[in-house]
Amino acid sequence: MNNYGLGGKVAVVTGGASGIGRACAHVLARSGSDISLWDLDQAALDVVAKELDAFECRVHTAVVDVSDSAAVDAAMDEAVTALGHVNVAVCNAGIGGEASSSGDYTDEGWHQVIGVNLDGVFYTQRAAIRAMKAGGRGGSIINMASILGAVGFATASAYTAAKHGVVGLTQAAAWEHAPDGIRVNAVGPGFIRTPLVEQHLDQATLDFLGTQHALQRIGEPEEVAELVAWLASDAASFATGTYYPIDGGYLAR
Ligand code: NAI
Repeated sequence: MNNYGLGGKVAVVTGGASGIGRACAHVLARSGSDISLWDLDQAALDVVAKELDAFECRVHTAVVDVSDSAAVDAAMDEAVTALGHVNVAVCNAGIGGEASSSGDYTDEGWHQVIGVNLDGVFYTQRAAIRAMKAGGRGGSIINMASILGAVGFATASAYTAAKHGVVGLTQAAAWEHAPDGIRVNAVGPGFIRTPLVEQHLDQATLDFLGTQHALQRIGEPEEVAELVAWLASDAASFATGTYYPIDGGYLAR
């Protein structure tokens, strides 16, 4: 198991109670980072916080809806107070949302998905930039996009638009905050075995989706977390403003 040498890092992980966020928290903590874990539900946060005990890191938890900018700002202040500073932010919280074609998509469904998957990343990234500038140590922001940050997918117009937006947000912020020592990158997972997909798709659909990846399977959350931990590390010192697919070859067609 790789150790990414993250001693001295303090990482905020949004959507940290499940799936990819949980796996990121594990790999970051295993590599020496302290963790501020954010999600919607304290009970779910407590379960993951207990798992992180194994890595002897400091853990702070916050119940926060990332689509609420005031709540995000408050949680970032809380994380800094609890853990001293923040120099890594994994802006990961996201939802699948309404599945219908663009001609039928509802206002409510659109705003819900954009609110969490785009506004939520913007609010978290903004709060992280402010905390990193105040901390004076620079930092690394990793925004969770998707393969749908690069291509489209039927019945997922809001999700696809939000993830393309996340890639653009990442590129702009990378240019703006390079002088502050802050690197900003986006990660684009292919289909990954998490509650987000398992709760919405039956096994036959998951099997079919597996065949859409060159590796003929969907991915595991830990396979995404390894890339996130590298981007968080000082070994990624020349990496900024880039969208990194990690997709078993989905986009290689
Ligand atoms: P998941 O459903 O396992 O975990 C998402 C977590 O985010 C949950 O714990 C949930 O409570 C939390 N969350 C949802 N809305 C929130 C909000 N408003 N505020 C705070 N927390 C909130 O999903 P998964 O698969 O781990 O997804 C994580 C990220 O990865 C999402 O941004 C998703 O779009 C992205 N992604 C997932 C892929 C997949 O196939 N699973 C593929 C590509 C990207």
